[in-house]
Parts: sequence; C-alpha cells; structure tokens
Amino acid sequence: MEHCLYDEETGYYAKKQRIFGKRGDFYTPQTASSLFGKVLAEIIRKQQFKQVYEFGAGYGHLAFDVLCSNHEIDRYIIFEISENMRKRIEKKLMNFKKKVKLYRSIEQAFEIKGFVIMVEFVDAFPVKRFLKKGKIYEVWVNINERREILKESEDHAFFEYYKFLPEGYYFEYPFSFIKWFEDFSKKFKAGKVIIIDYGLEKQNLISYPEGTIRGFKEHKVIKNIYEFYPGEIDITYTPDFSLLKRVFQKNGFNIRRFSSLSKFLIEEGILDIFEREVSIDTTSSFKIKKQSELKTLITPGMMGEKYLVMELEK
Ligand SMILES: C[S@@+](CC[C@H](N)C(=O)[O-])C[C@H]1O[C@@H](n2cnc3c(N)ncnc32)[C@H](O)[C@@H]1O
Repeated sequence: MEHCLYDEETGYYAKKQRIFGKRGDFYTPQTASSLFGKVLAEIIRKQQFKQVYEFGAGYGHLAFDVLCSNHEIDRYIIFEISENMRKRIEKKLMNFKKKVKLYRSIEQAFEIKGFVIMVEFVDAFPVKRFLKKGKIYEVWVNINERREILKESEDHAFFEYYKFLPEGYYFEYPFSFIKWFEDFSKKFKAGKVIIIDYGLEKQNLISYPEGTIRGFKEHKVIKNIYEFYPGEIDITYTPDFSLLKRVFQKNGFNIRRFSSLSKFLIEEGILDIFEREVSIDTTSSFKIKKQSELKTLITPGMMGEKYLVMELEK
C-alpha cells in the first residue's frame, strides 16, 4: 500500500495529476465545497487560535478557504508528503505566502501548539491486512504477480481487539498511522486536534468480512485492487474510530467531541453560512450550486454520516 501510494516515482500521490474533484477519482469534503472550510475558519476564529496546522493538505483547498475567511490567523503550517501536492499548494496559496509554511513531514516540526486539522489523512496511511482462519495470517502481496500471499502472523497484542470477529474474516490494522501519531503526540504541546474522515466503529466491522480495503478510480469503487498496476488507483480503507479513540487516549489526549459530519457541520453553523452566502450572491445558478454542495456535505447517504469527526484536546 505504501509503495502504491507513495513511491516517489510511481506512487499514486506522486504521479497522478487529477486526484480530487469531478475529473479526478474522488471528492473530499474540502474539494466538494468551500462551505466546509468556512465552518472550520469560524471554529478557529471563535476559539481564538492564531496558529493552524494541517496534515495531508492535498490541493490546499481547505487552507485557502480558511485563510480567505479568517484574517486573524497568523500562521498556517502545512505538512504534505507529496511533492506534486506541495507544488499545487504553493500556487493555490500564493496570496498567503507570508502566513503559510509548507513542510514535507512531521520530522521537520519542532513543536506543535495550536489548532490541528487532519481531513482524510488517517485513511491515507498504509495498513496491514490480516485473515482469521484458525490462526491469524498476515496478507502479503506479490507485486509482480499482483496476487496475495498468506503468511502465518507473529503474535500481536492487538489481536485481542479483533477476537469477536468470526472465522474467515479479514481485518486491517493501521500500524503506520499509530506510529506516526506517537511521534505527533510527542511534539504536540497544546491546542486542539480535529480529525475528519470516513469511518466506522468497532461493531460495524462485522459487516465487512473482506475488510474495508478498496480502490477508487474515476468515482468508482474498485473491489479487486489487483486489477490495476501499483500507483494507478487510490487505495484506502475505512478507519475504525473506536480503535483510534484508544490510540488517542493512550497518547494522553481527551476526546472532546465525536459525531457525524452532518451533526458537526450543523452544530457549527453551516446553515447560517450557506444563508449568508446566498444572500450576497443572489443569482439562481449560485444558489443551486451551493444547495448541491450543502447536500453533499450533510445528507446522511452522501458525506453526512459516512464521515465522522473526532476532536481531541491535551
Ligand atoms: C486522501 S488525501 C486528502 C487530502 C486533503 N486533506 C483533502 O481532504 O482533500 C491524503 C493526503 O495526505 C497526504 N499524506 C499522506 N501521508 C502523509 C504524511 N505522513 N505526512 C503528510 N502528508 C501525508 C497525501 O499525500 C495526500 O495529499
């Protein structure tokens, strides 16, 4: 998964020109609508944070929308691993050059104090896949032959968490995000962290006998990712927020909020922001566009309940 997504020459995030949006492979909340960034800008303003961090900023849409609507922010610090994305972000945020700092990875951060945003960041980390069949097997992949190989797994303490799953079930474990989060926690000194991602809770795993790993290409879900060459499609999984909660608490964070995206956006005033926008630009085409974006963000079957929001504090 790491090779497919992040190889510096052939990885999906390194080479693919169009990833997000209509002509790309998928939408994210920030590429679906600027209303999303405006809600976050308002939260940051209300809580009087002057320093914002964003991890995995993609095309930089969220940073742009937040900086356009909240002029009180002094510094917006981005960590984006893909050079391709960093180039796009630089262009997109040209007018905010003085406020924006752009880094490749958390290793370049000294300490983190402020408001931290991670949108569709957790799901972009490589995971390991396991099969429960008598013993627990780790699923490896022969890249050249594009097929899976089962190897008996070494024993891991976290297997206990998956004990309730029936025989024959696959599950995935986010080793690399957990490791990354431990590094992040050591550098995080004060502030808030907001994590927004599509997600599930532990009990929902029972609905996924094959696990949740899947691909995306041109807005279609790819069930058999081996039909494609490494780097050709996005590969992702659905983060388990029950597991993440444990990871965050273990690293000293308190969970301040856990809700669906729709509940979060409505509580934080997206409907007022929408009303304000359509009262400024009163053309019917603008209103129809904004209504459709709002629908994408808050309708349960669209992003509204597929995405979860977790807010952490330390
Ligand atoms: C699914 S995309 C989401 C982009 C953006 N947040 C959005 O919602 O449109 C994940 C992004 O995280 C970046 N990324 C993945 N791992 C990273 C890491 N360890 N540090 C910084 N960026 C990372 C990827 O390059 C990619 O741009």
